[in-house]
Amino acid sequence: MKIHHIGYLVKKLPQAAQAFRALGFFGQEDAVRDEERKADILFLEKDGYRVELISPYSGDSIVAGLLKTYRNAPYHICYEADDFEADMQRLEQTGYVRMGDPQAAPAIGGRRVVFLMHAAMGMIELLEREQNG
Ligand code: NI
Repeated sequence: MKIHHIGYLVKKLPQAAQAFRALGFFGQEDAVRDEERKADILFLEKDGYRVELISPYSGDSIVAGLLKTYRNAPYHICYEADDFEADMQRLEQTGYVRMGDPQAAPAIGGRRVVFLMHAAMGMIELLEREQNG
């Protein structure tokens, strides 16, 4: 598995993106709306680091709850799977608990993602590898 991105919660996406750009981050111009998670998502990168800015657009978004806890802050590292099913199983056998079923991520080309929780390490995201990519 390789690190794909760092998920970063932000309350105000345009302002946060502007602040990241001022630090030299570049990339995607317009956020993608994720109707499932009720959040707007924008990917930026710098020096080989990819950051996913995530901002809830509705109070009942799962992300809104996280934002209350963490405020503007990084909150997960996403790993790109070599083999999505096999990696998910292996993680579950080594202390990770899956948080729900895998879901398509509109902001990442519809690739499947799943979040897993580890008692000693917190939350990670597992991302399906790009098909034919
Ligand atoms: Ni993510």
